[in-house]
Amino acid sequence: MTAYQSDRLGWLATNRDRFGDVVRLSSNVIAVHHPELVHQVLAQTNHAYTVDNGLRAGRRERLEQQAHVAEWMAVRREIWSAIADQLTIRHAERFTARVTDELTDLTSSPFDLTQACRRLLGRALTDFCAGAEADPSRLETLAEAADSLFGTALQALLSHEGRVGWWPRPHAREAVRANRHLLDLLEELIRRRLPEGRPEQPRDLVDGLAAGVAAEADLSKAVSVLRSVMFASHGVPGAAQAWIALRLAEHAELSAAIAAEPDADDRYIGAFIKETLRLHPPQWLITRTTAERVRIGGYEIDRGVEVLLCPYLLHRDPRFWRDPERFDPARWLGTGQPHARHAYLPFGAGPRFCPGSQLATAQLTVVTRLLARDYRLKLPPVSEVRATTNGLLMPESVTARLVSVDPRKEVHA
Ligand code: HEM
Repeated sequence: MTAYQSDRLGWLATNRDRFGDVVRLSSNVIAVHHPELVHQVLAQTNHAYTVDNGLRAGRRERLEQQAHVAEWMAVRREIWSAIADQLTIRHAERFTARVTDELTDLTSSPFDLTQACRRLLGRALTDFCAGAEADPSRLETLAEAADSLFGTALQALLSHEGRVGWWPRPHAREAVRANRHLLDLLEELIRRRLPEGRPEQPRDLVDGLAAGVAAEADLSKAVSVLRSVMFASHGVPGAAQAWIALRLAEHAELSAAIAAEPDADDRYIGAFIKETLRLHPPQWLITRTTAERVRIGGYEIDRGVEVLLCPYLLHRDPRFWRDPERFDPARWLGTGQPHARHAYLPFGAGPRFCPGSQLATAQLTVVTRLLARDYRLKLPPVSEVRATTNGLLMPESVTARLVSVDPRKEVHA
């Protein structure tokens, strides 16, 4: 465990190369590396495998969580239908104006890349959820509550305090408090919208959800959908954007090609985003727990074993990709997949596939296009950037400078 903690990716890769595609790391943890086997685990989730969250303590919580799977799958269906194309397009239009202001502010002085990107994309998500709110301070309070939940939940996950049932869990308690606060804000938000009736076209997710509220039970479902969206998407898109910024700065010729692409065409920018998510998947590790005795790659695995799946290693495995270490968006422009089956999963796969993948891609497209077109980024080369694998794969302590190509748009401190 000490070796794993000091270099998680290196350690997983070394042991995959030594022992093969199914590796037992300890009596109750295994890692699985072959895309077909990874797919098998993800496809059987909710039955043979469970998804645990970082706040679980032990067997009892795990069983309770299992009982909530059907409820969660219903919430997921709501999320899918709520993130409709029209709403995403409307939000992208509104968000383009807001993000321009945010980026202009960033030209005033150097900033921490990851923090700024997390803030930017966190605000994008808040706008998607509640952007029709007239009072901007309400949106800010909401964004801060979601940030706080993300931060405390990550802390609870990283502390491993839940592994021993009787151990005190201060971080989990903090996360539960932050969760309650966010739920209260969201409930208040939806209640305030209810009297407005059903708008012809929902302006944001709250409009879409409020339209379906006829009883208290509907209200709590709507709050639950909103909370899940806000929680799951605070942090991950920001990490993705930080990597995109680093790659944009490093490949000036690709950045110029994106800047030249017309708005209606997102083929090139889409390839750039896909390639960045390949080499830098924020969710570099996906975990499952066996809910029964299973067979993986010819091995019998007991119930209650944690299974580690590593998109990062899968995305860089020369058995499944040509020239995998090379950053080459053009690999996505041909016909057909540039990789072996199931070897690309920045958004996961199977019944728990990310329901926000389209929305996230739309938001990343807006920010990336503006960055490529109107700004120059001053950043170190990717090879010199340290990445943290604490929770998400994120650039660590990178100072950025943003320069406007139009000097009149610069803000000077
Ligand atoms: C670049 C941005 C994003 C990436 C790379 C990403 C990646 C992922 C991945 C890999 C999973 C699956 C985790 C697992 O299988 O255990 C996931 C789940 C999820 N994502 Fe995303 N995500 C992104 C943005 C978003 C956004 C914007 C939303 C907002 C709707 C969202 C909502 C969710 C939810 C609700 C889940 C949980 C699904 C479940 O457990 O059933 N994600 N995401």
